[in-house]
Amino acid sequence: MQLFLDTTDTAVLRDLVSTGLVDGVTTNPTLIAKSGRPMLEVIAEICALTEGPVSAEVAAVDAKTMVAEGTKLAAVAPNVVVKVPLTREGLVATGEFARQGIQTNVTLCFSAAQALMAAKAGATFVSPFIGRLDDHGADGMELIHEIRAIYDNYGFDTEILAASVRNPAHVTAAALAGADCATIPPSVFLDLFKHPLTDKGLEQFLSDWAKTGQSIL
Ligand code: E4P
Repeated sequence: MQLFLDTTDTAVLRDLVSTGLVDGVTTNPTLIAKSGRPMLEVIAEICALTEGPVSAEVAAVDAKTMVAEGTKLAAVAPNVVVKVPLTREGLVATGEFARQGIQTNVTLCFSAAQALMAAKAGATFVSPFIGRLDDHGADGMELIHEIRAIYDNYGFDTEILAASVRNPAHVTAAALAGADCATIPPSVFLDLFKHPLTDKGLEQFLSDWAKTGQSIL
């Protein structure tokens, strides 16, 4: 399973990329606004920090302008993935990007029917929003299962990118459901390493080792 970081914080990204476990990055207009920086500058900096896919989202709502914006974003670096909303216009733009060989991440997916349409349009990634569905009283993880079954039934190669991930349990459940990737906030990435029994066990080992008076080096 590929793990992407959902962030525009380049200092945090630089630090976490050093683990060797970050496969790519996603951004959205909210995260760009949070950075307080010009979008193209942030995307270029992120693309220099990772060779993996970096999603950069269009701001237009009509297909023609989305294609113009996406073409400009894709020119920033070879690993830019143009992110488009899952609307009728967004899927028209997705089809055009597919014809041009530009990778896409179709975002704001909340139903299996929408995911089917994204795959038919030629999306590289589709982003079902698990956490926001859960907040809405639905079962976000069930959507991942449904999309996996539909894509496998018809051999679609659109990758399922679990998004709006709120905790490590979401990550493991998405992995079990067959999501190809998950995009996660840096805080959740750090939580993936943790378990209280690991801390307790290590404390005991270190204490017992100290009693031996030995040194390996
Ligand atoms: C993914 O591409 C989105 O940017 C992100 O996962 C949204 O997460 P949120 O629902 O926590 O804002």
